[in-house]
Parts: sequence; structure tokens; C-alpha cells
Amino acid sequence: MQTVELQLQSDQVSPELRELVLTLLSASKTIADKVRRGALAGVLGSAAQQNVQGETQKKLDVIANDILKQALLASAQVRALASEEEDNVVAANAEGGYVVAFDPLDGSSNIDINGQIGTIFTVYRAQDVASDSPEQFAQPGSAQVCAGYVLYGPSTQLALTTGGPSRLYTLDTDGQYVLTEAELAIAPDCQEYSINMSNQRHWAPDTQGYIQALQAGSEGPRGKDFNMRWNGAMVGDVHRVLMRGGIFLYPANTQSKIHNGKLRLLYEANPMAMLVAHAGGKAISGAQKILDIQPESLHQRVPVILGASNEVDEFSRQHH
Ligand code: AHG
Ligand code: MN
Ligand code: MN
Repeated sequence: MQTVELQLQSDQVSPELRELVLTLLSASKTIADKVRRGALAGVLGSAAQQNVQGETQKKLDVIANDILKQALLASAQVRALASEEEDNVVAANAEGGYVVAFDPLDGSSNIDINGQIGTIFTVYRAQDVASDSPEQFAQPGSAQVCAGYVLYGPSTQLALTTGGPSRLYTLDTDGQYVLTEAELAIAPDCQEYSINMSNQRHWAPDTQGYIQALQAGSEGPRGKDFNMRWNGAMVGDVHRVLMRGGIFLYPANTQSKIHNGKLRLLYEANPMAMLVAHAGGKAISGAQKILDIQPESLHQRVPVILGASNEVDEFSRQHH
């Protein structure tokens, strides 16, 4: 039985980064407890306030954000943090060597239906600028030193990479994250796609053509059938891609409000792109690799196409 503590040691992760990851995981266990108790813990429903992106926050968005924020502010390793639920960068410990960004609760619309939800996080090295400067996070995804998510599903699971393989751990009843998949691997070909079809009429024509070809199945140009799944939480959809393959898309949209898609570069697209890349898959925003994008703002949105490498290439070929 390999716990995450021991695995991080054998992966030769520095003591500072190890401590930081364990701080994040400890917070995730507190969140997992509340998620499991649900209505009994009083965590369901809306919080009657909006975040900086104009989305009505759920109680659990606020609770999960507070738990992670307090844990990270108390960590000697953390110089600053950024969150979906915080307008600006929050300064932490001036001596800390790392900065952490997170989506405290991904899949908010699944909270009240007892569906899959999760926490997504990423760690970068702190920059030599003011702790609360947005420049702390103006680093491309290729500079991430660690990326992961915790999925609060029937089991609580952690997907994590610290630069090596993407590994999967399962939370045991004694509170230990135990290694259950040492190297996640996404097959290069697939027959499953994941996209919110209700946006179809707003996609670019090339995207519409690409999805139509998948829907045409064995009678169409692709010559094979494709299944479709949409979980409504990126964390669950990307988890499925990591476990059994497929392609996940939240493409650009001609509706002005979500012209660049819906997902945020810093704490959704980048950590998932790193996990997928370290499992042999690909992640692009269109013409560019997600991990190469130079961020322009903290809550910037970006189209996301990720998963099976040959299928992501096929998407690229059909977009000029
Ligand atoms: P969040 O709950 O953190 O705001 O993120 C929700 C995101 C992401 O999890 C998911 O892929 C997407 O929203 C679902 O979008 P639709 O509402 O279009 O299904
Ligand atoms: Mn999210
Ligand atoms: Mn969220």
C-alpha cells in the first residue's frame, strides 16, 4: 500500500512542495467530509452572492474556497493564492516559494443533484514581484510544478502530477490517499466525445462540421461510431477521459459572453492540460497548445479541446 506521502518521497519531490501538496490534500479531506454529509452538513443550495465572473455562488463554492484559503494562508510554503471565487490575487507568506491557484468547487451545478464535483489545483514557483501581484500567475501552463484534482464521487479520488506520470490515488476510510493507478495512460484513438450539445448553434462552422462527422458514425467520413457523455463538471468529464479515453471539448462560442469558451485558463484548463499531457494525451485551445498560452488576465477563459492524441489532431486538421 503506497500512500501519497510515500509516493511523493519516492518521486523525489522537494520537502517544501511535498508539505504544500499535503496541505492541499488535508483541506480536500475536510471538503470531502462536508460533501459526503451533504444536506446533513447544511452545505447545499445557493449562497445568495455572486463571484467576480457574475456567477451566483453555491454555499459549497464559498465553503470550499474558505477551507482551501485558510489552509494555504497558514502554510509557510505559499507566497500567494488565486481562486475562481477571489477577485484578485491574495498574498500569503512573504517567504513562501510557491503560488497556488484553484477552482475550489468545480461542477457547482451538480452539487444539489448529488452528482460529481471536485477541486482543481495548480502550483507554480513564486515570482520576484509583490506577493499580491497578478504577475505571480502570469506564467504559461508549461511552468506548472504540480497539477491535480480531487474528485468527490462515489469514491474520493486524487489525480496528481509533479512533473512525472499522472497518478491516481483513492481516499481510504482512514483518511489516507492510497495509490491505485501508478501511471494513467490515455489511448491515442477513441470512440467517445464529450461536449455540451445545447451550444451547437453557437459554435464556429469548423467545430460544427467536426462534431457532425462524429455523429454520422460508421456511415460518415470517420467510418466508426462514437458514444457521447456530458457530466456537466469538467472534473468528472476529464476524469473519464483519463480512465477510459475519449475527447472533451468546451470550444469557442460565437455568443459574446463566452466567446472564448467557458473554462478558465489558470485553474481549470492548465492543470487539466498538464495531467492529460503527462498521461500521453493532448490539450489545445484551437491553434495553440494550452500549456503554451501566455496568460493575459487572472480569470481569462479559453477554449479547451483535450484527450486522445489522434482525436485532438483530427480536430486540429478540421480547423484551419
Ligand atoms: P464551475 O462549477 O467551477 O463554475 O465550473 C463549471 C464548468 C465546468 O465544470 C463544466 O465543464 C462546465 O462548467 C459545464 O458547463 P455547462 O453549463 O455548459 O454544462
Ligand atoms: Mn470549474
Ligand atoms: Mn468552481
